[in-house]
Amino acid sequence: MTGDARIVVGVDGSTNSLVAVDWALAEAGRLDARVVLCHVGRASGGRASGGLGGDGEDALSAAERMLARGVRYARGRAPNVEAIPEPRSGGPAQQLLAAASGAVLLVVGARGDGGFHGLRLGSVSAQVARHAHGTVVVVPNLGDRAGAERDPQIVVGVDGSPGSDDALAFAFAEAVRRKAGVRAVHVFDAATMQAMATLPQEDLYRLHVSAADTLRGLLRAHARAHPAVEVSRELLSGAPAATLAAASATAELLVLGSRGHGDIATLMLGSTSNTVLHNAQCPVAVVRGDPRSGRAHPRRRTVTRFAPKPSADIRG
Ligand SMILES: Nc1ncnc2c1ncn2[C@@H]1O[C@H](COP(=O)(O)OP(=O)(O)O)[C@@H](O)[C@H]1O
Ligand SMILES: [Mg+2]
Repeated sequence: MTGDARIVVGVDGSTNSLVAVDWALAEAGRLDARVVLCHVGRASGGRASGGLGGDGEDALSAAERMLARGVRYARGRAPNVEAIPEPRSGGPAQQLLAAASGAVLLVVGARGDGGFHGLRLGSVSAQVARHAHGTVVVVPNLGDRAGAERDPQIVVGVDGSPGSDDALAFAFAEAVRRKAGVRAVHVFDAATMQAMATLPQEDLYRLHVSAADTLRGLLRAHARAHPAVEVSRELLSGAPAATLAAASATAELLVLGSRGHGDIATLMLGSTSNTVLHNAQCPVAVVRGDPRSGRAHPRRRTVTRFAPKPSADIRG
């Protein structure tokens, strides 16, 4: 049985994208959703992407043939999940985003069939993560490391921004679906670390205690709403992106908000999220919109800072 919810997954014919299909199928089983396999054939003359078709071949019919194979693959892997092909032509990222309109998730491989060797995030996946209106999951192809023992745990990065509250909502919902725990991680950023370096010992201690309280406070409503989920909280210091990427090594899923406290309002993907996507060692969900409200653009919400700005005097 499959419900109305759709998970859209980008398929480019590469093994990397089949890893994303596998992830989408497993998630569809948990969400009672159907999986839409979308391939975007290149519209501008020449070869269709993914090594299919010859010069001048219609991009759409090449996409259809590739997806027939993709759907066969999906049905073989997860016979109980409805798999539907959606061939498109045009710009891959733009078309994937259009296909994902109204879907619960858009899933892509971290890499595809092209690009520069050695990069860990392809251009399509990077664009999709940056411009999506809804939640995007980027799935790395871990090869041999895929089978490594992982804790049944979802790591979520919390910085006190509205985006990180959305990430928490997604992480808890996903934890329920997976019967996993939530490990909430706050990483002190460089400015806070710098301020901390000048603080006397007792102020440093107070700052830690107050940050721990802040983290507990941010988690409270989510933890209450999901009492069965085991929660752990951690305050770490270091470069936020590198620290979160390191935390992903033992997790089933890393969940991030699309934006953090970064002051550049036009950025569609915060710099931490962007850097983590390049370095993560498990699938990463970049959450947009509050999954509880079903709205992609929630109203303005409170911002919580973990520590005073460096200039502020925390003594007294
Ligand atoms: N033409 C396409 N149609 C559908 N999905 C695509 C297409 N190109 C890329 N994708 C999706 O984006 C992921 C990353 O691919 P991409 O960013 O192009 O990396 P690379 O540069 O390694 O090819 C793929 O695994 C796939 O999920
Ligand atoms: Mg590509």
